[in-house]
Amino acid sequence: MKWYKITGIQNTDKPFITKVKAGRKNICLVGFEGQIYALSSVCPHAGADLSEGLCVKGKIVCPYHRYTYNLATGKGGEGQNDFVKTYPVTIKNDEIYVGISSLWDRLFGSK
Ligand code: FES
Repeated sequence: MKWYKITGIQNTDKPFITKVKAGRKNICLVGFEGQIYALSSVCPHAGADLSEGLCVKGKIVCPYHRYTYNLATGKGGEGQNDFVKTYPVTIKNDEIYVGISSLWDRLFGSK
């Protein structure tokens, strides 16, 4: 797994939703109740930008059709039968890093 430092945003306890790049991935970065979550910014339903959505009770709400996805697991709301990809987040020296696994990592495990 490769960790990408996210520039242009500092670790904060304040709530936020923004779109960032981690490598070549577009990530929806969400600050909610003192935790930071990283999800794919592309809604699996019809491709809306989740970083333009809302955050309600630990879920991101898509701006197009209001589908919801759990910030921690990416699991879609009841009856949706879908999910959005989530990524690990770590904080070092008050800087935010998002971990992206390569295909190699996923097939053979990362070290
Ligand atoms: S595009 Fe996100 S719910 Fe439809």
